[in-house]
Amino acid sequence: MSDTITILGLESSCDDTAAAIVRAGTETDILASIVAGQTELHADFGGVVPEIAARAHTEKLDLCVEEALATAGLTLHDLDAIAVTAGPGLIGGVLAGVMTAKGIAAATGLPLIGVNHLAGHALTPRLTDNAGYPYLMLLVSGGHCQFLVAEGSDSFKRLGGTIDDAPGEAFDKTARLLGLPQPGGPSVEREAAKGDPKRFRLPRPLLDRPGCDMSFSGLKTALLRERDKLVSEKGGITEQDRADLCAGFQAAVTDVLAEKSRRALDAYLALDTEKPLIAVAGGVAANTSIRAALETISHEKGADFLAPPLALCTDNAAMIAWAGIEKFRAGSRDDMTLAARPRWPLDTSAAPMLGSGKKGAKA
Ligand code: KG4
Ligand code: ZN
Repeated sequence: MSDTITILGLESSCDDTAAAIVRAGTETDILASIVAGQTELHADFGGVVPEIAARAHTEKLDLCVEEALATAGLTLHDLDAIAVTAGPGLIGGVLAGVMTAKGIAAATGLPLIGVNHLAGHALTPRLTDNAGYPYLMLLVSGGHCQFLVAEGSDSFKRLGGTIDDAPGEAFDKTARLLGLPQPGGPSVEREAAKGDPKRFRLPRPLLDRPGCDMSFSGLKTALLRERDKLVSEKGGITEQDRADLCAGFQAAVTDVLAEKSRRALDAYLALDTEKPLIAVAGGVAANTSIRAALETISHEKGADFLAPPLALCTDNAAMIAWAGIEKFRAGSRDDMTLAARPRWPLDTSAAPMLGSGKKGAKA
């Protein structure tokens, strides 16, 4: 077998159907990365509807695989293995991906590798920038929020995370409360740019408690209270009120993520890493004010800051193919007994999280 490995990755754990082909040898290339989103399918429901998502994945997976192969100019016989997200996520979608991957593996005889979706995100800095272990990772999206020290392709230490909503979920709910379009993150950020972040002093939950755990659900309730107060006092809210509420909300999320990142960095830096690095992944990492705060803190602490290109920060299959390459190199293989798992914590020694996010049960 040559040292060059070519892997097809499949992703279907939430509301993006994706297939990608990554080739790794002396250099790493993303030969194709196809993502079919489902935003319009769920738009009328104010959130991802699991049954609709699962059906759409079943319809789209084959097409995404065909498109990925065509884009890469390859056939299934040019591949070394199939990697697939086997959890955590919405079970119908994960099942659709696992069954598709099993079908391809059975038909071609190619090895099958089940990948943890969170490991896919957490290993992305190695795909994009060849990051060396150990590095600190902040996963911050509509479904996840956690600090992980990546120590190896199969070794992650969880330093803390949200105990209720993920920040992206809080942005989305805030947008809904203020009549702004989904996804909420970009619309709230746009409004916040016109607002005064100091007018409404929203809470900074859990900052008074030690450690890196976070909470975002109270923030949305506080915002709802402020909105209702304005409505009962003035009969409605003005555009400026809305912008100020968005600015206050964004400032609170930024402050919480910033302070908890400081603490996570301190814990990580105690490991005495030669070239310390903090990397982010997830849609919320697109937020300019959050990104700027994280960058400032990492430089204050003497660590490098890495934000991979947004298309690789949000859900995609290139990260699953890459995690598959790391597992393949480590000799890991699955077979037809590979199970789809709604929950699959990366660090099994960490305390389980409560609640459920956009992606269903939290890992
Ligand atoms: O990673 P992602 O595409 O999907 C998962 O949740 O896995 O993240 C989507 C989330 C949404 O909740 C969206 O509102 C949020 O990321 N988001 C943002 C921004 N852009 C996207 N949140 C804050 N500011 C943004 N600019
Ligand atoms: Zn994700």
